[in-house]
Amino acid sequence: MQHVLALKGMDGKWIESIVDLGIAMKKDPSKYSQALKGKTLAMIFQKTSTRTRLSFETGMTKLGGHGIFVDWRTTQLSIGGIPDEAKVISRYADAIMVRPMKHETVATMAGPNASRVPVINGLCERYHPCQALADVMTIKEKKGKLKGVKVVYLGIGNNVSNSLSYACSMTGADFTLCAPEKDPESLDREELETVKKTGHYKEEPDIEKAVKGADILYTDTWVNMEYFNDPKFAPEKARREKIFMAYQLNRAMLERAGPQANSMHDMPAHIGYEIDEYGLRGERSLAFDQAENRMWAQMALLVKLIGQ
Ligand code: CP
Repeated sequence: MQHVLALKGMDGKWIESIVDLGIAMKKDPSKYSQALKGKTLAMIFQKTSTRTRLSFETGMTKLGGHGIFVDWRTTQLSIGGIPDEAKVISRYADAIMVRPMKHETVATMAGPNASRVPVINGLCERYHPCQALADVMTIKEKKGKLKGVKVVYLGIGNNVSNSLSYACSMTGADFTLCAPEKDPESLDREELETVKKTGHYKEEPDIEKAVKGADILYTDTWVNMEYFNDPKFAPEKARREKIFMAYQLNRAMLERAGPQANSMHDMPAHIGYEIDEYGLRGERSLAFDQAENRMWAQMALLVKLIGQ
């Protein structure tokens, strides 16, 4: 049984096999319409979501299975003890997807004496593995390959850049982090050492040097969703807005990269902050393909984890 708490530990071949299966499913969904017949995915959310919830649930439907949305606050997870509750859920469901407040929660659910079925991380403060699988699928779909594709991530180093840098560098895409700061909550030194060893990861704070010749410019929110409207976080949000504005993924940034460059954003996006209207909705944007590909990539992942 395999849990997917992060991509850390997965090799490039495994990542690309998910990507290729996701592309095949998108081309011919009818071939996979019974692949998870009778299977159930429990989808537990401690935080809000549009893409993760909808893509997992519709993905299960397309595979002949069923997804159950579980709001953390209406369960006994907080009072019953996480390992026991996860163990119970795994007596009903064939897999569990959880979007926790903290990584520790998803790790506990996958730990000893807890779930006996695969546990998938649907985003925590350190990793967003399902997003990264959809992102590399989108890059391969658009560019026809991953090896040698230049991916530049602009803004704050965070959970999304952690998983994306891992997926890119393990599959031979060249990843550059162009970020003046990293979100301290997202740091994983062990994963960083692993991606550095691939030779496909670098950090380049100079914007001009980083973006020139890039095939993909990628950005994400500068402030995580749980803090976005939190008045206590407002001074830090204002500080970040000043620092990161120079890294905005906009029309001028795409022009600096060159005509081959596409823009990507995992969404939800904040127009006028980390991205402009053109970067998100213009003809060079892959953001909506990324959002769709969450579903196909996760369908591929689910079939790998719980299919026959
Ligand atoms: N990108 C992403 O995870 O979107 P949601 O927060 O809407 O699930």
